Amino acid sequence: MPLSHRRILLGITGSIAAYKSAILLRLLVKGGAEVQVIMTEAARDFIGPLTLATLSGKPVLSEMHLDDQWSNHVALGHWADALLIAPASAQTLSKMAHGVVDNLLTAVYLSAKCPTLVAPAMDADMWEHPATQDNIRILSRHGVVVLPVGEGPLASGLEGPGRLAEPEQIVGELNAFFQKDTLLSKKKILITAGPTHEAIDPVRFIGNHSSGKMGIRLAEEALRGGAEVVLVLGPGSEPAPVSKRLTLMRVTTALEMMDAVRQHLEVTDIFLLAAAVADFRPAEPAAQKIKKEGRQSLSLDLIANPDIAAFIGANKTSRQYLCGFALETENLVENARAKMDKKNMDLIVINSPNDAQSAFGYDTNKISLLDKSGKLVSFERQSKKDAARTILQAIAERI
Ligand code: C5P
Repeated sequence: MPLSHRRILLGITGSIAAYKSAILLRLLVKGGAEVQVIMTEAARDFIGPLTLATLSGKPVLSEMHLDDQWSNHVALGHWADALLIAPASAQTLSKMAHGVVDNLLTAVYLSAKCPTLVAPAMDADMWEHPATQDNIRILSRHGVVVLPVGEGPLASGLEGPGRLAEPEQIVGELNAFFQKDTLLSKKKILITAGPTHEAIDPVRFIGNHSSGKMGIRLAEEALRGGAEVVLVLGPGSEPAPVSKRLTLMRVTTALEMMDAVRQHLEVTDIFLLAAAVADFRPAEPAAQKIKKEGRQSLSLDLIANPDIAAFIGANKTSRQYLCGFALETENLVENARAKMDKKNMDLIVINSPNDAQSAFGYDTNKISLLDKSGKLVSFERQSKKDAARTILQAIAERI
């Protein structure tokens, strides 16, 4: 039982959905977890602390004005295996995203060493507001697991998204989280992501449309699974995650990417190569900006870049796992199979820019996974976050 003997801090904030926290708490305790409830002041208007203290078998902690609670927040954050905030109100999510500390719960969040999960609950208009959606993105980037909201009738009378996920669903997500936590925990995962830029002259380069999103989602999900991650990230504007277990190496060119990979070659357990590496680079980048005056045409002399995947494939031990990507526009499976064999990969993720809203730049991807044994599994279009989970799950099952 993944919940058994887990220490869970259950944060409850001011939302009408707080009445469901009692059922959630009951399910957690039944699953074998030890639960400490922290309520915000506003939550007390929606559910009585006595109910929660009785169900958890512990006094409910609340605001920081009790003298002995000033240092409690640090101890609590260290005690817990997970901090679960359900319901998480728009206000608490906003404070968390911006590091605002004005009560015990937000202080615990900022000092917690354990993973944090939030189950948002609010009115549809508040949920859909760009400010809330921005806060959700910030929290995801900070490694917080944001559980999906439900859709349907809301206490305000509106219909739409914003309902607290059902307690059974929250417990299911928490179980899955703890299970996943052990699948990749302590694994060292190296991820290449984004494009490379190969200088033509000081102001121009050869590049491609890769945004780095797929590799960044992989890094976020691997961190959530308990792994230590090295993210070798090419140029781009997509923000990288922030974590103590992440080493971020920003690179520009294929040669720099290769260098970064070499540094971690021996210590890595799993390689995930999502980068779109330029196959060729200008042989001799011009020292000064190339002028157009007096030219009718311009030829560039290109030389081949090293193939990072093939290098890893040729040098890895049997205990190291190599997963590459194949972005193909035709004969997807045949080309991917040939690539996997040539580069000695264990698994290859096939995607195609021909599929609607897939691959370069999009937040969604339609992938198929082909492994060394020839097993091919195709998935429907999903968010890159879910695609990342799918890929990591497939690897965890195979190592
Ligand atoms: O470019 P290609 O389709 O061969 O890329 C397939 C896989 O090889 C991808 O995982 C990509 O990240 C990797 N690759 C690489 N170094 C290169 C070219 C591709 O690591 N120079």
